[in-house]
Amino acid sequence: MRPSGNPVFCALDTTDTARAVTLARSLKGTVGGLKVGMEFFNANGPDGFRQVAEAGLPVFLDLKLHDIPNTVAGGIRAVLPLKPAIVNVHAAGGPAMMRAAADAAAEAGDSRPLVIAVTVLTSMDEGDLAATGISGTPRDQVLRLASLARESGLDGVVCSAHEIEPLRAELGPDFKLIVPGIRPAGADVADQKRIMTPEQACALGADILVIGRPITGAEDPRRAAEDISASLAPALG
Ligand code: C5P
Repeated sequence: MRPSGNPVFCALDTTDTARAVTLARSLKGTVGGLKVGMEFFNANGPDGFRQVAEAGLPVFLDLKLHDIPNTVAGGIRAVLPLKPAIVNVHAAGGPAMMRAAADAAAEAGDSRPLVIAVTVLTSMDEGDLAATGISGTPRDQVLRLASLARESGLDGVVCSAHEIEPLRAELGPDFKLIVPGIRPAGADVADQKRIMTPEQACALGADILVIGRPITGAEDPRRAAEDISASLAPALG
């Protein structure tokens, strides 16, 4: 899904509704969508979400649900009236949970959100995985969980830019790859470690680029978003 052909979803990582709404309004027409996560939603709830969505852009509700199937299905059902464009769950919750999430989302019919899996958090390395009882590399685990997500009826995964190529090869052209950790050339890297430029990630086959601070932290966020989108024109053909 690339609403309006623009793959950039701007992450609004704030608890401040007024700031989020101002950004949402000013970015309309320059990005394909917005993302709000648990920081914003826990502070402002459905009403805050509605205010952001009123700007008219698709919104990815990034709550990373992880619970028993019945509870995750209920959590998804509860947000369907908000008409999020994308919701997500942890693939580690297993196939029954992911199937329940997909089935709950399908109840929204034509306005159903994409249901995306989080595989291995990029903050975890091989040692962290071993500590949780999982042997093998993060990359092996990402591929295993992504395959499971597809078999369980989910639409795609969140992944690092460096995982785009193996995931595309393994899971085919229709599985959505949503990619954070993106930095325009010359931008402040901040706490992101394994970054890629928007052009590189799109050329490799990312469907959606989640970009936060390079836009929201810019002196002129609209201008920053326009520059990023313009830089993508060649990669998008
Ligand atoms: O500001 P920045 O561009 O780093 O924001 C990236 C967004 O993507 C944040 O909302 C962050 O929580 C999210 N994210 C990430 N890395 C992941 C998964 C999500 O940076 N592996």
